[in-house]
Amino acid sequence: MILYLAYILLFILIFFTGAFFLFKSSTPRNFSEFLMELELIWIGLETNVEDMMYGPCYNKVSLYPQSSSVAVLTGGNRGIGLCILKKLLQCEMTVILGVRNIEAARKSVESYIDSSLLMNKVIYETCDTGDMSSVREFAKRVQERCRGINLLINNAGIMSPPFKLTKDGFETQMAVNHIGHFLLTHLLMPQLISDGKESGRTSRIVSVASCSHLGGKIKYDDFNCTKNYHPGKAYCDSKLAQIMFTNHLHKMCEEKSWNIQPYSCHPGLVNTGIFENIAAGSINWFRKILMKTPEQGSRSVIYAAIAPEIESNGGVYITNCRPSKISKIAKDDAECQKLFSFTCGLLKIKNFGIE
Ligand SMILES: NC(=O)c1ccc[n+]([C@@H]2O[C@H](COP(=O)([O-])OP(=O)(O)OC[C@H]3O[C@@H](n4cnc5c(N)ncnc54)[C@H](OP(=O)(O)O)[C@@H]3O)[C@@H](O)[C@H]2O)c1
Repeated sequence: MILYLAYILLFILIFFTGAFFLFKSSTPRNFSEFLMELELIWIGLETNVEDMMYGPCYNKVSLYPQSSSVAVLTGGNRGIGLCILKKLLQCEMTVILGVRNIEAARKSVESYIDSSLLMNKVIYETCDTGDMSSVREFAKRVQERCRGINLLINNAGIMSPPFKLTKDGFETQMAVNHIGHFLLTHLLMPQLISDGKESGRTSRIVSVASCSHLGGKIKYDDFNCTKNYHPGKAYCDSKLAQIMFTNHLHKMCEEKSWNIQPYSCHPGLVNTGIFENIAAGSINWFRKILMKTPEQGSRSVIYAAIAPEIESNGGVYITNCRPSKISKIAKDDAECQKLFSFTCGLLKIKNFGIE
């Protein structure tokens, strides 16, 4: 009873703190943006309470050796990605890291991870998921290095930057979080399929999405949000797109009998640099008290990547190391198929996974 009262009090405190910072930030510009931001705070709050209630019991993952496995990880040089990398190495995997700055990544990896774990098991390659030519070059280098890949973790991400189009003409968050990873998955499909066939093991694809997808919407008439850009909302849209992609891909793998299981996950609200563009994110004590550490955040991702108990349960969305609810639109097969075809169109992909 006392615990529940404490939760309710905390809930109210966080809600009003969030609303206070919302007023202090440069947005909202109008009442509808104000309502939108309240919705985002509400989603964050619900997730935070879920993390506090279920985290201590369920947010756990067992690591086990898989020394012959090769994993590809985007954005593993800081935040949650760095902790994901450490756990993959603890599983004795070889990891190809797709990062924007190889030298900075090497420094950060070597200062966080013990040299006894590294043992030449990390391969650094350049990859900017917001630049489609960089993604293509990265995929080519990965293909040259290995015939089979057992695991792809699409982790790189940005949140709430000011509006900008990438050089390919996509809104930045949609490009970095969804479109770049969509292209990378397409290009690495032959390696993922081949590993599944040759080793008899199932390959996995993990999309690091977010609870924010609950506030997302796919606007086909204004995919780049040029008419009314709201940074938080565009983040939600990109995270929704990642989950819808995962769901359709899962269907496709089943239909084509590809030995691959795709999963999406939400790491929790995690204290990392991703909050640099958010007003409340600049308050350190707020983040320290209320959020998970990056190590805790990495557990659900690793769970989706290796847990044997979800082996035949592809397509699920994992949070706190257990399946959780996704939005209505993300469950709608026709909507997922529509977004999938739309993204193929943007990237001029004729036959996903093949050409
Ligand atoms: N933190 C949270 O509360 C939270 C909640 C839900 C979901 N997530 C998701 O978790 C993932 C990791 O986020 P994080 O919290 O660890 O954030 P972070 O500390 O800011 O790390 C983001 C990572 O993505 C990389 N990255 C950003 N833009 C990139 C690009 N264009 N190409 C390649 N790499 C790029 C960054 O590399 P650079 O060093 O080059 O910038 C960095 O390694 C993201 O997908 C995020 O949406 C986070």
